[in-house]
Amino acid sequence: MKIFAHRGYSAKYPENTIAAFQAAAQLPIYGVELDVHLTKDNQIVVIHDETIDRTSNGSGFVKDLTLEQLRKFDFGSWLGEEYAGEKIPTLSEVLALFCKTNLMVNIELKSDIFVYAGLEEKVLQEVSTFGMQDQIIISSFDHEAVNRVARLAPNVENAALFANMILNVVDYQKTIPTKALHVALPTAVRKPVLEAIKKNSVVRVYTVNEIDHAEVLLNIGVDAIFTDEPEKMLEFMKLRGR
Ligand code: G3P
Ligand code: MG
Repeated sequence: MKIFAHRGYSAKYPENTIAAFQAAAQLPIYGVELDVHLTKDNQIVVIHDETIDRTSNGSGFVKDLTLEQLRKFDFGSWLGEEYAGEKIPTLSEVLALFCKTNLMVNIELKSDIFVYAGLEEKVLQEVSTFGMQDQIIISSFDHEAVNRVARLAPNVENAALFANMILNVVDYQKTIPTKALHVALPTAVRKPVLEAIKKNSVVRVYTVNEIDHAEVLLNIGVDAIFTDEPEKMLEFMKLRGR
């Protein structure tokens, strides 16, 4: 079972910052996951929420702020003074870090609520600038966006995210098309997902921070987990001899 550091090493470092990604890059894990939004001036930035309120000393929607405005805020001190000074990273800064590693990078398009026109094209452009087509998985809860990625770049791996599970998921995934389902932890143990695994869908599960949960998922045969605690999960896998 592969391990992705969710939003970087987010249990110890401020999520989706260079500090969190650098820490993840030191670990013998399979990959990292990150979230992207578009700024007012159409720059791709790495942040989970639609607003900067929770993870910075500023406030407002990402879509209403320019990159220059966003850069003025501190994205580290909300977690601890030792992280003060972390800036919101651009996708390009994060790709520049990971293109020097063997880690896979799962870019989650956060077009779930706001429409970010051209986000798929822009992300794919960045990926190709870094020559990272084989190192990337693009996912979203917005399945129209996943569909566009599949059409625009059949050579780049994509995945459909699910907060809840649908009964006919195996048929549904053919319509996107995608071979990978990124599912929420409780849905991973439901029948449709077990069926999908049997039929060779790649199933990756978020967000898995408890050893007991990882144990269940290992037994089910999921391909990977997203975790805020990559070191804890590495230790678990080591104990299981994997
Ligand atoms: O991509 C997996 C997971 O990150 C999806 O949920 O809300 O943590 O982005 P969220
Ligand atoms: Mg995410």
